[in-house]
Amino acid sequence: MTASNESSTISRALEGRTALITGASRGLGRAIATGFAAAGAKLVLIGRVRSNLESVAQELRDKGAEVHCFPYDLSKVEGIPELYEWITSAAGEVNILINVAGKNFRVPAIEFPLEEWRGVVDLNLTAPFVLSQCFARPLIREGKPGKIVNIASLMTAAARPMIPAYTASKGALGMLTKALAVEWAQYRINVNAVGPGYFKTELTRPLHQDPVFDKWVLERTPMKRWGEPGDLVGAVVFLSSSAADFITGQILYVDGGWLANV
Ligand SMILES: NC(=O)c1ccc[n+]([C@@H]2O[C@H](COP(=O)([O-])OP(=O)(O)OC[C@H]3O[C@@H](n4cnc5c(N)ncnc54)[C@H](OP(=O)(O)O)[C@@H]3O)[C@@H](O)[C@H]2O)c1
Repeated sequence: MTASNESSTISRALEGRTALITGASRGLGRAIATGFAAAGAKLVLIGRVRSNLESVAQELRDKGAEVHCFPYDLSKVEGIPELYEWITSAAGEVNILINVAGKNFRVPAIEFPLEEWRGVVDLNLTAPFVLSQCFARPLIREGKPGKIVNIASLMTAAARPMIPAYTASKGALGMLTKALAVEWAQYRINVNAVGPGYFKTELTRPLHQDPVFDKWVLERTPMKRWGEPGDLVGAVVFLSSSAADFITGQILYVDGGWLANV
């Protein structure tokens, strides 16, 4: 195989698959959706704001991708099974689930409101769990394989002050990844996570606009830069592809060396 053939094989690694990507309207989810379209996947995109989803979808349709949009607030976890029924009736069988949507709330732990705690945990942890159930049920019933990739965090492995709900939810998402991986390996459903380091997105705007925090990230990250959303895509495509068929229960950090550094 020539080098160009090889790269075109890699670039169409998700041909024939349908991927559901949450949080796809901006930031890391948008970059993943763009990479998945280039890799040949049919896409189902979820986010709350229809117009934002549709603008991503139109951009990807213009490049030849088939894209379905489902505006939905995933913190309303009880409604997810019904949402999933609509998705499969419109888009058909889903083979890949990428749980990206997440949020943070920053105040000292001592005054953290219970309502905000519940909101963060519902979106960052409970929604990925319920979506995983909905995704796995028909695949298990029909004996078909699937891939789940959860977007974890450095806070899956380490902690910083002022974000107790985020840290607890991302830590638990790492263990949920392992729990589902060991239970569903028998059904050929691989469950892995990707842990981004510090990436410049809307979510981290308060951090990268703070000169003190920005300096700390640059000093603490061996690669001496913030991640750009495109930096995450290769790891997620890989874990969603048949190249990762024997990989499950792993958390792959894409962090410019942050976690390896003391
Ligand atoms: N950026 C980083 O440095 C970093 C680092 C580690 C981990 N992560 C994780 O990566 C994921 C994406 O982060 P990001 O930086 O790309 O964030 P972002 O720019 O804030 O994007 C979040 C995405 O999730 C959607 N979303 C938010 N709340 C939602 C809800 N209730 N229901 C459905 N969709 C919702 C947003 O669309 P709508 O607003 O239209 O709903 C948007 O598409 C998160 O899980 C985050 O924890 C990010």
